[in-house]
Amino acid sequence: MVALRRYRRRMETSGKVAVVTGAGAGLGAALARRLAGAGMKVAVADIAIDDAEDVAAAIRNDGGEAHAIHLDAGDEGAIESLATRVEAELGPCQILCGNVGVQQFGKAEDLSRADWEWVYGVNVFGTAALVRRFLPQLRRSTDARILITASTSALYPCSHMSAYVSSKYALLGYTETLRMELADEGIGVTAMLPGPMATTHLASSEAAKPDIAGHPVHTPDTIAVIAQGAGGEMIDADTATRNVLDDLAKKRPYVITHHVHTEPIEARYAEIREAFELARR
Ligand SMILES: NC(=O)c1ccc[n+]([C@@H]2O[C@H](COP(=O)([O-])OP(=O)(O)OC[C@H]3O[C@@H](n4cnc5c(N)ncnc54)[C@H](O)[C@@H]3O)[C@@H](O)[C@H]2O)c1
Repeated sequence: MVALRRYRRRMETSGKVAVVTGAGAGLGAALARRLAGAGMKVAVADIAIDDAEDVAAAIRNDGGEAHAIHLDAGDEGAIESLATRVEAELGPCQILCGNVGVQQFGKAEDLSRADWEWVYGVNVFGTAALVRRFLPQLRRSTDARILITASTSALYPCSHMSAYVSSKYALLGYTETLRMELADEGIGVTAMLPGPMATTHLASSEAAKPDIAGHPVHTPDTIAVIAQGAGGEMIDADTATRNVLDDLAKKRPYVITHHVHTEPIEARYAEIREAFELARR
């Protein structure tokens, strides 16, 4: 019985087809390397195609299999083309990592509708469209997984990041709901909640932001505010993925990448608990 349980928890990785969005840098690139290192064929999808090509070439150099594919994660037409190319060039996707997430700093009152639409278009609507489009391929596998990159920002707010934080709250709610809806089909759905990582997150968001009548992604004054609010150690993206294969194999609901200050999370839940207590009045 124990042996059977162990067997059930193992995930066959060799030859599986994985798609990682935002894989041209940072966490996405680290996920692509990790999955390829376990023997998967990986689609390295990114809006910055040269960066995606570099990541894919480095994986191939190390003996892995990787294909760079251009993707604007906020564009449903581009998601459609990605799905078509993945199936034609690698085979049906079995592991889907919706990792792209763009950042937008600025006080809530200053952000324009265009800023909000961009952040939600990529982080929330883009992720939902990605999953919707890839589900028919995932359903053809007997052991499919979906990994969605949220953030510890989905657990507690951070000043001057209202569009990003609220998009990550939405993404966590989406991922948890999807997990319930796909459980009977055996498709594991996991939310990744990274803390601060040393990546090019701000620069790549700035580069990917379309030319819209919006706020700059970041300004020196907002960086200073964020630096004060950021709690916990900063780690590199490869370290952040160190347990992800095991977490996916075991269909864990959450991947916490590293320690962050938990006080703001506990304070938030304490206030919510108190509000429930007050409802007894
Ligand atoms: N860096 C952090 O501290 C941190 C913390 C928590 C969560 N996250 C999340 O981790 C994920 C990855 O961020 P990162 O820190 O690795 O950033 P990164 O800048 O290193 O990588 C992001 C990649 O996404 C690509 N990209 C941006 N917009 C895109 C679009 N519209 N379509 C396709 N590709 C696009 C960029 O070109 C870049 O290659 C994001 O969801 C982010 O919100 C990051």
